[in-house]
Amino acid sequence: MADSANSMQNGAQKLAGKVAIVTGGASGIGEETARLFANHGARMVVIADIQDQLGNQVAASIGSHRCSYIRCDVREEEQVKELVDSTVNAYGQLDVMFSNAGIVSPSNQTILDLDLSQFDRLFAVNARGMAACVKHAARSMVERRVRGSIVCTASVAATQGSVGRTDYVMSKHAVKGLVRCASIQMGVHGIRVNCVSPSGLVTPLTRAAHATMEIEELQKLYAQSSRLKGVALSAKNVADAVLFLASGDSEFVTGHDLVVDGSFSW
Ligand SMILES: NC(=O)c1ccc[n+]([C@@H]2O[C@H](COP(=O)([O-])OP(=O)(O)OC[C@H]3O[C@@H](n4cnc5c(N)ncnc54)[C@H](O)[C@@H]3O)[C@@H](O)[C@H]2O)c1
Repeated sequence: MADSANSMQNGAQKLAGKVAIVTGGASGIGEETARLFANHGARMVVIADIQDQLGNQVAASIGSHRCSYIRCDVREEEQVKELVDSTVNAYGQLDVMFSNAGIVSPSNQTILDLDLSQFDRLFAVNARGMAACVKHAARSMVERRVRGSIVCTASVAATQGSVGRTDYVMSKHAVKGLVRCASIQMGVHGIRVNCVSPSGLVTPLTRAAHATMEIEELQKLYAQSSRLKGVALSAKNVADAVLFLASGDSEFVTGHDLVVDGSFSW
């Protein structure tokens, strides 16, 4: 509410009149970004997720005049196409796609214990699903000559290795490759494609990845790994970075990986 009030007072409506889709918007980073987009004047924010109850609750709490929920499993290309088509049919066009849905595998996935069924399931969401969202958003923008903005959620895992989570790290490297290719190919249409790369923060995804840890323990772990002391990465910090990439503030920025990590990666 405070953000909403501030942005209203400052007249800082960075997405005034824009139509945006947020995949994985029922929870965590996506939820926070959906709220921020709405607070910044987006005409409509469409939350796309597979958690129907949560997605509907988040949309209702933002307000039905500014936010709606659509069930969309990003693993299914037809559902992604339908998500984009129905958004354009209902609201005229698509200006912003925040392709954010992602998962971790149930096991740690070191190379010696790599479970390739889990690997396939993870890639279906994190890499294939991401590509489907970028593809159909870009097609819609090209067809309607919309100089839109596409933002993907990568990770610090997109640029470095890890002692585990091999499939996740590989999938996030793939997101970066996707963003690099799409930004080059879409530049001629004035469409920008970027990604945001957070370090660790507590969300249902990281709670699942560290199931044996209490929230406080996990928070402490992330605080210790950040070189920027006195502030812990929040979903709001990531949403602010996404808003920058989605809005005209980043008019000449494309193909960029905006790292939000308190210098963790350096
Ligand atoms: N939390 C972190 O520390 C962190 C760090 C870097 C990157 N990320 C990335 O941020 C993104 C958001 O994750 P989060 O941390 O907010 O976790 P989260 O679990 O809170 O949110 C992920 C959302 O994606 C949805 N989702 C999962 N599979 C889907 C599918 N097949 N189709 C549509 N929606 C689906 C989930 O239902 C959930 O609402 C992910 O891509 C994740 O990899 C997270």
